[in-house]
Amino acid sequence: MNILVTGANGQLGTEIRNLSEGMDHHFIFSDVNEVPGRETVYLDITNLDAIRIVCRSENVDVIVNCAAYTDVAKAEDDIDFAALLNHTAPGYLATVAKEMGATMIHISTDYVFHGDASIPYREDDTPHPLGVYGVTKLQGEDAVRHSGCKYLIFRTAWLYSPYGKNFVKTVQRLTAEKPEMKCVFDQVGSPTYAADLAEMILKVIAEDRLDCTGVYHFSNEGVISWYDFAKAIASLSGHTCDIRPCHSDEFPSKAPRPHYSVLDKTKVKETFGVQIPYWLDSLKECIKRLS
Ligand SMILES: NC(=O)c1ccc[n+]([C@@H]2O[C@H](COP(=O)([O-])OP(=O)(O)OC[C@H]3O[C@@H](n4cnc5c(N)ncnc54)[C@H](OP(=O)(O)O)[C@@H]3O)[C@@H](O)[C@H]2O)c1
Repeated sequence: MNILVTGANGQLGTEIRNLSEGMDHHFIFSDVNEVPGRETVYLDITNLDAIRIVCRSENVDVIVNCAAYTDVAKAEDDIDFAALLNHTAPGYLATVAKEMGATMIHISTDYVFHGDASIPYREDDTPHPLGVYGVTKLQGEDAVRHSGCKYLIFRTAWLYSPYGKNFVKTVQRLTAEKPEMKCVFDQVGSPTYAADLAEMILKVIAEDRLDCTGVYHFSNEGVISWYDFAKAIASLSGHTCDIRPCHSDEFPSKAPRPHYSVLDKTKVKETFGVQIPYWLDSLKECIKRLS
């Protein structure tokens, strides 16, 4: 099969590239940025004609959309661009997937939920996003769902990897520089190691489960606060910084964030037979790679 990966130089795209080596399929990695040493086709997913040209010339069977507007705080002021990337562009990709009989694998977020639940969110729970990022990601899901193409939407959360910007790398830097810091304990969720999600996506492709149209939740196992996550990152990095728990209102943010965004992963485990690693085991793996 010919598999187009968009946003291939981001966190998830890079892990898909790493893990796809040696697989028996032809991958086309595309992005709007270039990274030295990574062969990348230029493809701006906000350009419908460009998507058509690449998909037709490569005879694409699967589109894995890893591109998105991911800066949650900045999106509050940059609404039009966030909507273009998170809503309009996935609609374009899905339109071309439908035209070609291809399957679209699209990535969404726990931020489609309000965060006022006390048990993990299931795929059929009613979304109620709090901010621009969540609203535009939900609109993107709807655009994919209503396009008529075959699709799998994976909602994930708290994504991190050795690449790009993420909480793990930020906490590593801060705890190396500072003797003390604060971190919120009243926002609870489950981190996701991008390599684990990439492995899951590649398993779906390798086992040709592309007919399983629907929405799936995926994160690592376990439930923690950002405070717990920061403590573990510092400890595994050998940093002695004193991390103290605080409330969200001590860290005013432009974007409202869900207080509880744990995703129920029963459906993804039952459908694809995946064993999902515990968050601490995956964090250890990532920190080993970072060091
Ligand atoms: N990060 C998280 O915590 C998190 C949590 C839940 C869900 N998700 C979802 O998971 C997915 C992957 O996230 P990620 O963290 O891997 O994202 P990321 O690291 O921000 O990567 C996104 C990639 O898309 C590229 N891109 C930007 N505009 C583009 C365009 N017009 N056309 C093509 N590519 C473009 C970016 O390039 P530039 O860097 O040059 O802009 C970047 O390489 C996204 O759908 C995201 O919404 C992420």
